[in-house]
Amino acid sequence: MRGERAPRLHRWWTVLTVPLLASCGNELALDPQGPGAVQIANSWWILYWAAVAVCLIVFAALFAAVWRRRQSAEHPQAEVRGKAVVLWGGAVIPLLLLIATTVLILLGMRWLDAAPPEDALAVRVTGHMFWWELEYPDAGFATANELHIPVGQPVRLELESADVIHSFWVPQLHGKTELVPGRTNELVIQADAPGVYEGFCAEFCGQGHSHMRLLVVAQMPAEFDQWLEQQAADASPPDTELAEQGREVFGRLICSNCHSVRGVSEAVVEAGPDLTHLGSRSTLAARTLPNTRSQLANWITDPQGIKPGTQMPATPMTGQELDALIEFLGVAE
Ligand code: CUA
Repeated sequence: MRGERAPRLHRWWTVLTVPLLASCGNELALDPQGPGAVQIANSWWILYWAAVAVCLIVFAALFAAVWRRRQSAEHPQAEVRGKAVVLWGGAVIPLLLLIATTVLILLGMRWLDAAPPEDALAVRVTGHMFWWELEYPDAGFATANELHIPVGQPVRLELESADVIHSFWVPQLHGKTELVPGRTNELVIQADAPGVYEGFCAEFCGQGHSHMRLLVVAQMPAEFDQWLEQQAADASPPDTELAEQGREVFGRLICSNCHSVRGVSEAVVEAGPDLTHLGSRSTLAARTLPNTRSQLANWITDPQGIKPGTQMPATPMTGQELDALIEFLGVAE
């Protein structure tokens, strides 16, 4: 008999920890900052409160049934009443609840599927193992891992993949949408307030999946236009001797095989993020590190240690070459 206690304890412990573990998810989705995310959060709350109401009613009925069990043995009429409770509580009401929640959720989904408005800004988002290429076709440039959008304006994202299936997810702005090789999916996002919103790859895509993150920076329209103009411009040519040495290092070592610095150095194959105006971004390696000189040095010397699975190889170089390279890339501090 004593031997049975331990498994029983385990069972109770498991039951008790499920609700705790269930709350380990990402709570950002319940702090929506755009119409798409508001719609999704509303659907979530509808289901949540429906589930709470059903639980309370079922438990109340269960306790009432246990409490009044003896009565039914003595009064046959109570048994008839009991059957009516089972019919209504066990079939009719749950069915009505299911129909109501399904209709509400379907209406929400139809709203989410509506065609993007004419004035939507188009951005092509390409998923790579393990970073995000962000192309602004109207402005004619590409950047990486930091998506800037104007506040209050719908943005139509054309989602594509260069390799495997990824999933674009910025919980405060919208739900997840997959990036599938060979097809273009569409997602319309909009931010109602300026701010920096965290984004993730939400589909396991390989060893570096957890480091495939991005930022969405929502700016007031005037500020966004300024950013767009600044990013569309080519990089300025190196203006110090150290930066000039850096350009030489960038071209001589393998950096320029995969990375472009527009107007200064074109990649042989555009396999890595465009590094034009790298200094204007706040993170490195798809939100793995803050964008500082020391972290950039760490990233260049040990990419596999920092982000296992990245396509970026370590490039042996002297300390002087590294300093020059960082100067050339324009990361200020
Ligand atoms: Cu890309 Cu996970």
